[in-house]
Amino acid sequence: MTEQLLVEVDDLAVHFPIKRGVVLDRTVGYVYAVDGVSLRVRKGETYGLVGESGCGKSTLGRALLRLEKPTGGRVVFDGTDLSAMKGERLRRMRRRMQMVFQDPLASLDPRQSVESLLVEGIRAHGLDKGRESTAKRLRELLSAVGLPSTSLRKYPHEFSGGQRQRIGIARALAVGPDLLVADEPVSALDVSVQAQVLNLLEDLQDEFGLTYLVIAHDLAVVRHIADRIGVMYLGGIVEESESDDLYTEPLHPYTRALLSAVPVPDPVVEDQREQILLSGDLPSPAAPPTGCRFHTRCPWKQQTRCDTERPVLREISPGHRVACHYAEEIRSGAIAKHDVEAEAVAPDDFGGIAVGSTSPASTTEALG
Ligand SMILES: Nc1ncnc2c1ncn2[C@@H]1O[C@H](COP(=O)(O)OP(=O)(O)OP(=O)(O)O)[C@@H](O)[C@H]1O
Ligand code: SF4
Ligand SMILES: [Mg+2]
Repeated sequence: MTEQLLVEVDDLAVHFPIKRGVVLDRTVGYVYAVDGVSLRVRKGETYGLVGESGCGKSTLGRALLRLEKPTGGRVVFDGTDLSAMKGERLRRMRRRMQMVFQDPLASLDPRQSVESLLVEGIRAHGLDKGRESTAKRLRELLSAVGLPSTSLRKYPHEFSGGQRQRIGIARALAVGPDLLVADEPVSALDVSVQAQVLNLLEDLQDEFGLTYLVIAHDLAVVRHIADRIGVMYLGGIVEESESDDLYTEPLHPYTRALLSAVPVPDPVVEDQREQILLSGDLPSPAAPPTGCRFHTRCPWKQQTRCDTERPVLREISPGHRVACHYAEEIRSGAIAKHDVEAEAVAPDDFGGIAVGSTSPASTTEALG
C-alpha cells in the first residue's frame, strides 16, 4: 500500500544567529533550534511532536509552514517544494496550512469581534463570495466548533479559555486548510477542558479530512490524539513510531526517561515502575554536546561513539526509528543502565548570553 504524504521534511535546519555588540553587531554564535530533522506526515494522520521546553518544537512547526526560513534542508508540501517559494505563490500555499496556537488570548486580537477575526482570513485569501455566503460560512464554522452563532458579535475576553481555543480553531479552519499545526493547543487550558478540545480536534479531523501536526510537551496529550509520535531532543528527532509502539516499547534512552516520569493508573504496575532520573541540565541549544546530543545525560552511555558520532535516525523495527548507536543492545538488555555523573556541558562560549535573548532585529536579519 502506498501511503499518500502531505508533508515531507528533509534534513531541516533552523539556526538563529546570536548577535553581540551595538555598533558592530557581530554574530558570535548560533542557536541550533532545529538541526537536521527529517520526517513525513501522511495525509489524514495526526503526527505528535513531543519534547522538553526549548528543544525546537515550535521552531520546527513554524519552519514547516515557512513562517521561519530554514537555514538548510527542505519542506515539501503536497508534492511542492516550499524552499524556493515566495511572494504570492507562498501566500496562496499558506491557505492550505494553518496554525492553532497555545494561548488563544494572546493570539486573538482583543479589539476584534469574533466575526471580524473569522472573516479576516477568508477575505485575505479572496474566499469572500458575498455577504450571504460568508454569513452562512461563519455560522457553519461556529457550529463545527460548538459555539452559538450569537458569538459572532462578541469579543475574545467574553469567552472562557476553552471557548477561546474553539475560536482559534474556527479561525484556522475558516480558509479550508489541509494541514493544521497545533502548537500546544491545550496546555493553557484547565485539565477539565483539555479533553473537550482534543475531542473537538479529532471530530473536526474526520469531518474535514484534516492532517494534524500536534506539538506538546506532555506525552499524555499526544497519546490521546496522535497516530504517530516524534520525540525531539535539542533540535533533533531521537525516536519516532506509531503511538502505541512508543508507549509499549520506548527504545531511545531519552524516551524511556520521559515515559518513566508518567504515572501509571494501575497501583501494582506503578509500584514496580522504575523511574529513570536524568542527571544534569538540558544543555543549551547554542552549544549542543558533540556526538549524540543526549550523551551528557544518558544512563546507557558507552565509552565509544556516544560522545563522538551523532547517531542517525534508523529503523529498528517496522515503522520504529531510533537515533541511538546502541538501540538494539539496550533493547535486548545486553547493555545495562548505569548511574551517570553529571557531565559539564560545553563551556559558555558566548559570554553568558542567555539563549533566546537574541533581539528581534537579529531574527529579522536571519530571515532577510
Ligand atoms: N526567533 C528566535 N531567535 C533566537 N532564538 C530563538 C528564536 N525562536 C526560538 N529560539 C530559540 O530556539 C530554541 C528552540 O525554541 P522553540 O520555541 O522552538 O522550542 P520549543 O520546543 O517550542 O519550547 P517550548 O516548549 O518552551 O515552547 C530555544 O532555545 C529558543 O530560545
Ligand atoms: S547513542 Fe549513546 S548516549 Fe546516545 S542515546 Fe544511545 S547510548 Fe545514549
Ligand atoms: Mg514552543
